[in-house]
This record gives sequence, structure tokens and C-alpha cells, in this order.
Amino acid sequence: MKKIIIILSSIIVIIFIILMIFLFNTDSKNKDIDNVKENETTENTKEKENNEFSTLAYYKEENLDRYKTYQTNNPDLSIEDIVTRVNLNLDKDVYTDTLPAINLNTNYLLVNKFYYLDSNYIPENLELLDSSYAKSGIYLVKEAKDNIERLINDAKNDGMNIRVISAYRSYSYQENLYNNYVKNDGVEMADTYSARPGYSEHQTGLVVDVTRAYDNFNNFENTDEYNWMLENAANYGFILRYPKDKEDITTYSFEAWHYRYVGVELAQKIKASNLTFDEYYIRYLESDNN
Ligand code: DAL
Ligand code: ZN
Repeated sequence: MKKIIIILSSIIVIIFIILMIFLFNTDSKNKDIDNVKENETTENTKEKENNEFSTLAYYKEENLDRYKTYQTNNPDLSIEDIVTRVNLNLDKDVYTDTLPAINLNTNYLLVNKFYYLDSNYIPENLELLDSSYAKSGIYLVKEAKDNIERLINDAKNDGMNIRVISAYRSYSYQENLYNNYVKNDGVEMADTYSARPGYSEHQTGLVVDVTRAYDNFNNFENTDEYNWMLENAANYGFILRYPKDKEDITTYSFEAWHYRYVGVELAQKIKASNLTFDEYYIRYLESDNN
């Protein structure tokens, strides 16, 4: 009997020791896994905090992977250009992941192939332009209208003859226009020079298309009036919206005749920066207004 008790106690002690060894091992393994996870998280946080893009004020942490991919595909671009372009969604196809435009009824309202206006959006304070400045039936937001009239008057004093041929366009007007262009030239071509309905800056009521009276707008680039506009438009709050050699950013071909009203102070800053409105918006306006 004594022998059996000794054997049984030994077995219990052995089982207890095996159990303790097993538990200790599992615990230290778990601790190791926890340590690895903790290190990985710290590394990730450090990478997010200390990457070369993150020094920029307009850096967005959620875009980090896209910045890296864009940099791999465009190794010659500066860090500023990479972050700006990715924030503009230029690493995506146009008209994908589109969002409703914000800052409605302000001078810094951004509308492009990624930010759209509702089909029923009509800007506040639209006013009819006098026929001495424009074709008949042309409307513009009052502040832009006052400034284009001032611009046309001052240009006239310098011997220039500038006339507005298009300004505010409703959603349905743009829809007809775009659909006709598509009928004639196909979607791919039409998209290079015409906005799809909802995506036209003309719907903001802050845009003018101008010509030398009564010349074709396609010839505006070759006129003194165009050079006068390049020099002076910003002093009246207007910027050339789709400049030459910026097609990869604006996603539109050069339009010598299309000017966007942003207010005098902002127009002068944008002109001095040599940036498009899209780029300037991302770098200096977006974070201020969100
Ligand atoms: N032509 C400009 C891009 C528009 O259709 O709004
Ligand atoms: Zn236009």
C-alpha cells in the first residue's frame, strides 16, 4: 500500500512539473509574440511619422502608400509634386472616386473631374451681364461680374477689345453641350476639352470664356488681348484656369479663353506661385477650409 501511494504521488508530481513547464513555455511564447507585435506597431508609427512626405503641411497619412507608388512610377517628381498630385487623385482615372464639391458659393470652390456640383446647384447672386460686355443672356455671380466689367473697361483704355462669350452654365446646358461634343468627337476626345455635366466650373458662375470681339475664341491665344489678360487678369481676381503645359494636372487641354474668378488677393497669389488652381488649392487652401 505504501508503495502504491509513493508511485501515485510521484506520478502526480511528474504531471505537475510537466504542466508547469508547458504553461511557462506558452506564456513566454505569447510574450514573444506580443513583443514582436509591439515592435511592428512602433515601427509602423515611426515610419508614418518620419517618412520624407510627412514634412509637408498638406501630407495626408492615409495616402502614404499611394505617395510611395506614385514616386516609384514618377521618380523624377519632387516630394511636393507627388503629394500634391496624389491628393488631387491624379494617380486615379478621372471621374473615379468622385466627391461632392465643398465650399459652395465661395471664391475658392474647387470643381474638377473629381469634385462635382449637384445637378440642382445654382450659385447665389447670379446677375445678367450687360450686352456691352457680353453676348446676350449671360449670367455671372455678382462679384465676378463687377470685376469682369472693370477689367473690360480698363482693357478698353489700353486699346483692347475683350468680350465675354460664355459664363454661368446650368447642369442641363452643360449636359447638352457635352453630349453633342461626344457625338461629334467621341468620349475620349470630348473629355480633353469639355467637362461632363456637374463637373464644369462654368456651373459655379465664377468663370468667363472671353474673345477679342468678334473673333473666334480659338484664336484668342494669338491676340494682344490674350497677352493683356496674362499680365493683368489677376488684378481683377481672374486666373487662367487651364494653362499650357499643365494638362497633366488640370486634365484639360490649354484654354487661352477660360478664366476663373477667385478674388483679387488669391488670384495674385496663385499667379505668383505659378501653380494651377488645383495645386494651389491642395497646398494652401484645403486644410484652411476643412
Ligand atoms: N471647357 C471647360 C473645361 C468646361 O467644359 O467646363
Ligand atoms: Zn470655359
